[in-house]
Amino acid sequence: MKVSKYLFTHLVFLLSGVALTITDPVHANPDPSKMVDQFEATSGKFDGFRRSGAKGICAMGEFVGSAAGRRISNSPAFSGTPIPVIVRFSVGGANPKASDNTKTQRNLALQFNLPNNEVWQMGNISAPVFGSSTPEQLFGRLQSLQPDPRTKVVDQSKVKAFADANPEVLIQGKYYASQPVPASYVSTNYWGVHGFGFSNEKKEKVWGKWIFEPFGGVQTLTEEIAKTKSPDFLFDDLRQRVTSGNAAFNFNLELAEPGDILTNATVPLPEGRKKLTLGVLKIVSVSTDAGGSCLNITFDPNRMPPGVEGAADPMLPARAASYAVSLGRRLTEGSKQ
Ligand code: HEM
Repeated sequence: MKVSKYLFTHLVFLLSGVALTITDPVHANPDPSKMVDQFEATSGKFDGFRRSGAKGICAMGEFVGSAAGRRISNSPAFSGTPIPVIVRFSVGGANPKASDNTKTQRNLALQFNLPNNEVWQMGNISAPVFGSSTPEQLFGRLQSLQPDPRTKVVDQSKVKAFADANPEVLIQGKYYASQPVPASYVSTNYWGVHGFGFSNEKKEKVWGKWIFEPFGGVQTLTEEIAKTKSPDFLFDDLRQRVTSGNAAFNFNLELAEPGDILTNATVPLPEGRKKLTLGVLKIVSVSTDAGGSCLNITFDPNRMPPGVEGAADPMLPARAASYAVSLGRRLTEGSKQ
C-alpha cells in the first residue's frame, strides 16, 4: 500500500520530468530512462538497489534551526522546534558490496519532515564538487567509462578522449584521491554542491552553498589503519557513535559574494567565504537491519520548502526524473540495501 503510493507519486514526478526534457530545448537533457540505463551499463545492474549510493543504511535525526536560519529563511525548518529527519548514509556508486575502507564518496541524504506534510529533501556528498557540470556531460562521461559488454574491459582511449575534452570531469576524482579514508559516516563533511537561495518574510534573499560539518571535526584513517578495517565497518561505527551521543552536524551556509559561480556543481565557492550556522542536525537512531524509513523513498533535492530555492544549475533539475526512474525500478524489483 505504502509502496504503491510512493510509486504513483514518483511516476507523476517522472512524467513531469520527461515532459520538461522534451519541451526545454535549452537544457536538452538526456532522457532519464536512458540516463539510468547508462548508469547500469557502466556500473552494473543490482536488482532492488539504488542505481547510485547503493550501499547504505537508514537512520533518524532531529534538526533544530538557529536564529541565523530564521533571519534568512521563513521556512518552518528553522523555527527552532525540533524537526524529525529521515537520514540515509551511503557509499558512492552502484555496488551494494562496495568496500568502506577506500577513498571514495560518502553520502548524507536527508528528508526533513516539516509541519503540514511539507518535506525538504537533500542528497549531500563528501566532496565540495560533483563530477560533471551538465547532465549531457555526465551521460558522456558514463558512456566513456562503460566496459565492453563482451570483454568487460574499459577502453582507456575513450576515457582519455572524453576527459581531455571535458577536463572538469576529473576534478571530483582528484579531490577524493587527495583525501584519507573517512573514519566514520559522522566525522565527514557533506556538501550540497549546488547553489541555494534563502528568503525571509521581507523577501530579502541570500545565496550560498551548504555544508554539513561534524561537531567533532573531520576524522580520517591512515592507510595502515584503513587496511585493518572490515569492508563494512561504517555501519557498526555509526551505531556506536549514535548510541554514545556522538553524532551531530552543523548545517552551515557559505555565503556567496558577487561574481561567485553558483550554477556549476564542479566549481566550489572560493575558500574563506563567511559562514552562517543555520541549525544542528543530530542523528538519534540507526536502523538495526537493512530496512528503515529511507528504504522506499528517493531523496530529490528539488523538493524544497518555500523560503529555499535552487540556483539555475542544470544538474539540479535533471536529478528529479532520474531518481524517480531509479526508485521505480528498485520498487518493482523489490527494494534492498
Ligand atoms: C543529472 C545528474 C544526476 C543523476 C542522473 C543522478 C543519478 C542518481 C540516481 C539514479 C540515484 C539513485 C536514486 C534512488 O534510487 O533513490 C542517485 C543517488 C544519489 N545522488 Fe545523484 N545523480 C545526479 C546528480 C547528483 C549530484 C550533483 C549529486 C551531488 C550532491 C548527487 C548525489 C547523490 C546522492 C547523495 C545520492 C544517494 C541518495 C540516497 O541515499 O538515496 N547526485 N543519483
